[in-house]
Amino acid sequence: MADIKESIFLKNLRGEPCDRTPIWIMRQAGRYLPEYMKVREEYTFNELCRTPQAACEVTLQPIRRFGFDAAIMFSDILTPLAPMGARFSFAQGGPKLESPIRSESDIDALSTYEAADGTHFVAEAIRLMKVGLGDKTPLIGFAGSPFTLATYLIEGGGSKDYRFLKTLLYSRPELLDRLMNKLTDQTLAYLRMQVEAGVDAVQLFDTWGGILHPADYAKVVLPCVKRIMDGLRDLGVPRIYFLKGSAPYLDLVTTLDVECLGMDWTMDMAQFLPQMKGYAVQGNLDPMALYGSQDQIRRRALEICETGSKARGHVFNLGHGITPQTPIPNVEALVETVQGYRRETP
Ligand code: CP3
Repeated sequence: MADIKESIFLKNLRGEPCDRTPIWIMRQAGRYLPEYMKVREEYTFNELCRTPQAACEVTLQPIRRFGFDAAIMFSDILTPLAPMGARFSFAQGGPKLESPIRSESDIDALSTYEAADGTHFVAEAIRLMKVGLGDKTPLIGFAGSPFTLATYLIEGGGSKDYRFLKTLLYSRPELLDRLMNKLTDQTLAYLRMQVEAGVDAVQLFDTWGGILHPADYAKVVLPCVKRIMDGLRDLGVPRIYFLKGSAPYLDLVTTLDVECLGMDWTMDMAQFLPQMKGYAVQGNLDPMALYGSQDQIRRRALEICETGSKARGHVFNLGHGITPQTPIPNVEALVETVQGYRRETP
C-alpha cells in the first residue's frame, strides 16, 4: 500500500530529495472545466461549498482529468465567514456582502463559533475527499489570510483601491486590529479542524496582503499570519503561505516558520532563491501563459522546473489561480511537461 507521506508533493514540501517536480494548480477545480459547469447547473456556488458529496465530486474532477499530484479541497476562502454573520453571494462579478463591516459595532457584531459546529460540512467533505483520493493523492486544506478576508468584509467585495479598509487603517488602526484578531482566532481554529479531519497540507491564501507599505504589512498582516502558522506547528502538516506580490516583503516573509512559500509570476525565481534557502517554493507560471502557444508553455514550464530544482523543494503551480477561459489542451500540455521533467540526481 502506498504511503501518502511518501508522495512527491509532501516530500518536496519537507525538502527531501526527489527526482521529479509535483504539480497542482490554484483554482484547479473550477469554471474552466466542463464537468464543473455541469455540477454548477444543479447547485449555486454557496450550495456547492456546503454540500459534502458535491464538493467532493468537484475536488476529484481535476485529479481524474489531469492526474495532478495534489488535490485542493473545494470550498472558498469566504465560506467560513458565513457563520460569523457575513454571508457572501456570488452572482456575476465576484463576491458581494450585503452590509459591509466598517464600524466598531459591525466588528463586534461578528460572532465567533466552534469550527466543528459552524463549518461541520467542511470536515465531512474532507473525510469524503480522503476516501475518494485514496492513498496516492494528498489533499490540501486552505483558508484565506485574515487580511485578505478583512478586505472582502470591509469593502463588501472586490475593490480597486481598498478605500474603506485603508480609511480604517489610517484613522482607527486599533479597530482594524480588533477585526484582524477575531479573524485570526477563527482561521486558526478552522485550519486545525481541517487537519484533524484529514488534510495532508494547508495553504494560507493572502491574495491582497501585497497592497500595503512594508511597514504596515509588518505591523498589520505578518503577526496574524505568524500566529496562525505557529499555531499549526504541533499538528505536523506542511504549511504553505501564498502571498501575491510578495517580492517587496520577502525579508519579512522569510521570518515565518512555514515549510513552503508561494511565488507569483512577477518574481524571477532564480533571483530570489538565495533568500529562500530554508523553504520549499511553489509556483510560478503566469496563469495567462496558458493562453499562449504550447511551445511557449513547455519552454517556460521547463525553465521554472530547472530553476526550482535548485530550491530546497519545488512544487510547480501557477503564480495565481487558473482563469475560466483557459484552453484545456494547454493545461494537459503543462501537466505532461512538468510531470515528464526529471531532475538531475538530487
Ligand atoms: O483552488 C481550488 O480549486 C479550490 C477552491 C477555491 C475557490 N476559491 C473556488 C472558487 C479556492 C482555494 C479559492 C480561493 C479564493 N477565493 C481566493 C484566494 C485565491 C485567489 O484566487 O486569489 C479568493 C480571493 C477568493 C474569493 C473569491 N471566490 C472570488 C474573488 C470569487 C469570484 C471570482 C471568480 O473567480 O469567480 C470567488 C468564487 C469562486 N471561488 C469560484 C470558484 C470555483 C467561482 C464560482 C462559480 O462557480 O461561479
